[in-house]
Amino acid sequence: MKTTNKFFITTSIPYLNAAPHLGHSLEYVESDVIARYQRMIGNDVFFLTGADEHGAKIVRSAQKAEKSPRQFVDTQVKIYQKLLNALNISNDDFIRTSDEIRHWQGACVLWKKLYDAGDIYKGTYRGLYCVGHEAFITEKDLQNGACIDHKTIPEQIEEDNYLFRLSKYTLPIRKAIEKGDIAIIPETRKNETLKMLDEAEDISFSRPSKDIAWGVPVPGDSTQTMYVWCDALSNYITAIGYGRDNDNFGKWWPADAQIIGKDILRFHSVIWLAMLMSAKLALPKTIFVHGWIHVEGEKMSKTIGNVVEPLQLINKYGADAVRFYLIHEISTLGDSDYSEECFVKAHEGLLVKGVGNLLSRTATMVNNFDFVSKPSLDALVRFPFKTNLGELVTNTEKASLESMAPAFWVDDVLEPAYHSAMASYSLNEAIKKLWTLFHMLDQYIEEYKVYKIVKEKPEDAKVMLWHLLYSIASGALLLKPFMPDTAEKILTTLGVENIPKESWKEFRIGEIPHLFSKLEK
Ligand code: MSP
Repeated sequence: MKTTNKFFITTSIPYLNAAPHLGHSLEYVESDVIARYQRMIGNDVFFLTGADEHGAKIVRSAQKAEKSPRQFVDTQVKIYQKLLNALNISNDDFIRTSDEIRHWQGACVLWKKLYDAGDIYKGTYRGLYCVGHEAFITEKDLQNGACIDHKTIPEQIEEDNYLFRLSKYTLPIRKAIEKGDIAIIPETRKNETLKMLDEAEDISFSRPSKDIAWGVPVPGDSTQTMYVWCDALSNYITAIGYGRDNDNFGKWWPADAQIIGKDILRFHSVIWLAMLMSAKLALPKTIFVHGWIHVEGEKMSKTIGNVVEPLQLINKYGADAVRFYLIHEISTLGDSDYSEECFVKAHEGLLVKGVGNLLSRTATMVNNFDFVSKPSLDALVRFPFKTNLGELVTNTEKASLESMAPAFWVDDVLEPAYHSAMASYSLNEAIKKLWTLFHMLDQYIEEYKVYKIVKEKPEDAKVMLWHLLYSIASGALLLKPFMPDTAEKILTTLGVENIPKESWKEFRIGEIPHLFSKLEK
């Protein structure tokens, strides 16, 4: 019997200084697909996201908007929550770092743990501070004196503050990574982390409150405000009750997957791990690092100002089309360029014509009969795939295709391949397998000319239709984590939305929906 495991997954928490863009949506959707998949395979999932509400960046944006930081974040946070909703993200919680009860309390407990371990000490810090990064940066991060990522001139700062003894943990972190106690995906980010560990020095962990008051006051020293990254990273444990609700904290920690972008790798794979070690807490099992969405080769960013508004895309095409685009067209781990042209091409080719057309043409053929019921095994094996799918499938898959009929192929070849891709967080690979299936089923209709056989040899046609319906419905089940509404619509159309797959005996067609509509030019 399968046992239920707990699965705790987190996203990074975005700064609220500007509206969210498509890059944030990528992280939300990837995390949501993983969370929904884990629920689907029967695990007990807690999916956390939230907002990073403190620091200089927020204070400046609030000033520009002529609001207090509090008023500003209270307005901004609604835009992020609206996007989560519009994208159909299934998060179980939303933590705000300005929440004094849920967050500050735990953040202070964590600070005291680090302090008691002798890992926080007073000192003077001198360096170049980049507000875009909310971090001290070095000469190598500059081009013509400006931060390479944010294109702004950093501020020269020298101040008394508290430092965190990061250097003490570089060796233990290296060992944990090398032993595989923590997985950093992909391998290239793991190697980058190992390099960063060579250079890690103690870091400033607070700022004078006279300069920055919007944040968590340092416990026992109100002249200092906690460094925004120290404050923000602790959200992953404060939200589940660290220092407040030990039972709940014990139930969920350590995180099973922490999803972040490549620009914040060091904060998570070095600083966060060191904080956890100092507090004697377990390390997360996996840090999963996605790439960036670019526009014409440059990172999409609020600071650069080349952002694509996800809400506009959702209003125009629907949440599932945007989710599809982000997983199918955007690389899960590398960088990818966004263009509306590619979006429209994928929408029309793979959604409207692809799965949408496949469902409606199959369902229309079924309407020649009252319903299609499960044929005998002898009948089922008579109609294997004939198609030469060329590049679409691997050689092993090709060999099996020659002898297998669709329903068997789906169960024996597609499903295991899909689950193994999902287990290794290869989301792009997993969703592509589903589109390979839909494409193959379309070819199957053509090869056998099922639309003719329906009239000429109805008994044969019913067997072929069973293959098609069973395979489309199985594909829809596997599509659930990616495109929950579309999957549901397909299963409803085929009359099996509430029936477990093992009990599918017949398919009866409901009203045939337009899954996706071609937009007027
Ligand atoms: N507030 C910090 C995170 C603190 S986590 C304890 C932060 N915020 S952010 O708003 O700048 O970025 C939030 C997430 O969005 C990061 O994972 C970042 O990599 C991701 N993205 C921001 N722009 C992006 C793209 N253009 N493409 C893909 N994701 C990118 O960093």
